[in-house]
Amino acid sequence: MTDETSGTPYYTFGFSESMLQHLRRHTVHSHAAHLLPHLKPGLRVLDLGCGPGTLSVGLAEAIAPGALYGVDMEPSQVDLARSVAEAGGHDNATFRVGDVTGLAFDDDRFDVVHGHAILAHVPDTEAVLAEAKRVLKPGGLISVREWILENSFLAPDFEVINDAWLTLAELMTADDGHPNIGRDLKRHLLDAGFTDVRATASFTCYTTEADIGYFSRVIENWFFSADVRSSATAYGVATQQQLDNLEQALKRWMSHPGAFGAVAYGESIAYKPQG
Ligand SMILES: C[S@@+](CC[C@H](N)C(=O)[O-])C[C@H]1O[C@@H](n2cnc3c(N)ncnc32)[C@H](O)[C@@H]1O
Repeated sequence: MTDETSGTPYYTFGFSESMLQHLRRHTVHSHAAHLLPHLKPGLRVLDLGCGPGTLSVGLAEAIAPGALYGVDMEPSQVDLARSVAEAGGHDNATFRVGDVTGLAFDDDRFDVVHGHAILAHVPDTEAVLAEAKRVLKPGGLISVREWILENSFLAPDFEVINDAWLTLAELMTADDGHPNIGRDLKRHLLDAGFTDVRATASFTCYTTEADIGYFSRVIENWFFSADVRSSATAYGVATQQQLDNLEQALKRWMSHPGAFGAVAYGESIAYKPQG
């Protein structure tokens, strides 16, 4: 899918303001907690698919005075990441436009390569992991964290609302993405030649009134936007009627006192073999 804010292919989420507001809530503590214990001052770290950079600057802070590099294919995201770093005084963070399947870095450059919510969007998983391995120093650490949409849920679901996850997964698959790749990270890392893989899983939860209101607005403003609706119908993954039914169910969910939502992720760290 391409959206009116970008001509970039293969990126289902697009770059609308509602999606950006959502991504800007990502921090190193909320979305890379599995990696934090492995970071220390002085490391050289690469963030693959850095997006608007809120997670990246947390990495930069954890490894200062080391150097953090962020790469994203979308120039508008690189600009945003640069402004987030500048506003926070993270002068050890550098952001570049680039494709994660062909990194413009020499071999054996980084102590850590991190990717959050990027493998789900890139058709060629093998190519991304091969590039990550190439630019890592021998013994260097790779960290990935990715969605498992099929294990994400909103409750109560009124017997329909969880179909939204399946619709979103089908949209991503139609863009050659991998909506459930979070559960296969260990296998992919082993296939790519990494060793000592440690795989875990976690949820990002929405439970307070503020959380529920926030998450409902993200779904309403992004998933039910004219742009995503027209992609869903054009790809044949949902009819307008099905989307209308889901939207009604979402309204019931957001005002239900028992409303609870959880987005599932798989996360793994592993190492590039020495020599
Ligand atoms: C869901 S966002 C994740 C952003 C950030 N990692 C985070 O979690 O906050 C995915 C990002 O990957 C970027 N992206 C997708 N395919 C890419 C590719 N082949 N090379 C570089 N960036 C890519 C998109 O432009 C988008 O900014």
